[in-house]
Amino acid sequence: MKQLLSFNQPVLQGSIRVPGDKSISHRSIMFGAIAKGKTVITGFLKGDDCLSTIDCFRKMGVTIEEHEETIIVHGVGFEGLKEPQDILDVGNSGTTTRLLLGILSGRPFHSVVIGDHSIASRPMKRVTEPLSRMGATIDGRHNGQYTPLSIRGGELTPITYELPHASAQLKSAILFAGLQAEGTTRIIEPEKTRDHTEFMIKQFGGTIDREGNEIIVQGGQQLHGQSIDVPGDISSAAFFLAAGAIVKGSRVSLKHVGVNPTRAGIIEVLEQMGGSLQIDGIPSKGEPIANLTVEYGKLTSTEIGGALIPRLIDEIPIIALLATQAEGTTTIKNAEELKVKETNRIDAVVEELSKLGANIQATNDGMIIQGPTELHGGKVNSRGDHRIGMMLAVAALLIKEEVEIEGIESISVSYPGFFKDLNSILSKQ
Ligand code: S3P
Repeated sequence: MKQLLSFNQPVLQGSIRVPGDKSISHRSIMFGAIAKGKTVITGFLKGDDCLSTIDCFRKMGVTIEEHEETIIVHGVGFEGLKEPQDILDVGNSGTTTRLLLGILSGRPFHSVVIGDHSIASRPMKRVTEPLSRMGATIDGRHNGQYTPLSIRGGELTPITYELPHASAQLKSAILFAGLQAEGTTRIIEPEKTRDHTEFMIKQFGGTIDREGNEIIVQGGQQLHGQSIDVPGDISSAAFFLAAGAIVKGSRVSLKHVGVNPTRAGIIEVLEQMGGSLQIDGIPSKGEPIANLTVEYGKLTSTEIGGALIPRLIDEIPIIALLATQAEGTTTIKNAEELKVKETNRIDAVVEELSKLGANIQATNDGMIIQGPTELHGGKVNSRGDHRIGMMLAVAALLIKEEVEIEGIESISVSYPGFFKDLNSILSKQ
């Protein structure tokens, strides 16, 4: 689906409560299902990806009630999950695929996991290899590399596993398997990645330890249903943080945003670039939350790499746009994981922003951007990737001419109300 965007000297003023965190929403359904008793979730993200997770667990016999404001999961425990009669369709969701594999690897039944065109090209061996080592039988296209995957879970033995990639999805898959194995599973991360799974094990009454970069979990723990309040997704807020920072005259507040330090790299980058950002913490019993207020101002270039990358991996497309408006050369490195996201995000960002006049080059593990540049109108494509679609829509705010975005429907994967929220803070200079 095409969308024609044409903004005439827009200004963004006002506040938005962005939808619930995608990573936490997925996990709240999964933990709700493998815990015993009722889990009540507020702030759940009703985007396509998280709805796929609900669908998969329903197919395994879990009752999940969807209400206007809440989702209620009637947990059955790991042992209560049933062999699905139909294939488990994860849609576009890599998080559903990989975390689900960790859960299925310990279940004594057969299942088949399938997803869309993009999922079919995302690497799964990184997950199926350690899970097979623990005792699951998994096969798939190209020697178990790609979906469709078939899994027969089994009795799992714990492992000590050094992650070859700084990936929270991989870590979480092994944690879900470790919870079902008899004994102690140890995972060593090359860099710290988002720790929502670890946080939730504790929220649901379990224990998990961390010693430096090593995470230690015991199998056989009984988890209990909880009330979970999902904070706003900082990865969705990032689009409005960037828009507020680069659209002249803007001031935007994002309410109730999750600011877990393992996710909040975008805040550090905005500060490094000289952006005007106010962070007002809100007391929380769960994950850390804050109201964030950003104002338009002059930005300078920065360097992004190393341990910062996993803390902002999903924000790199919008950070690249920020860099086109910053004075100097911004370098993003150590981000080769971008090549295996919903699309190859190095190519997608560089090629699509170039069509709008950005001065941007791809490198092997990131990109180099010169700014500031005045962007111009053109025809661009989300390539079926929600974050590329939203980044291009924010780019259009800077452009006097028309911008035509192909594949705009992909935005519903993580932010179905994106344009409604954008319109709510849009006025003219
Ligand atoms: C996620 C982890 C990240 C991130 C993805 C969500 C998660 O992926 O890019 O959008 O919820 O664990 P990787 O684990 O592949 O880095």
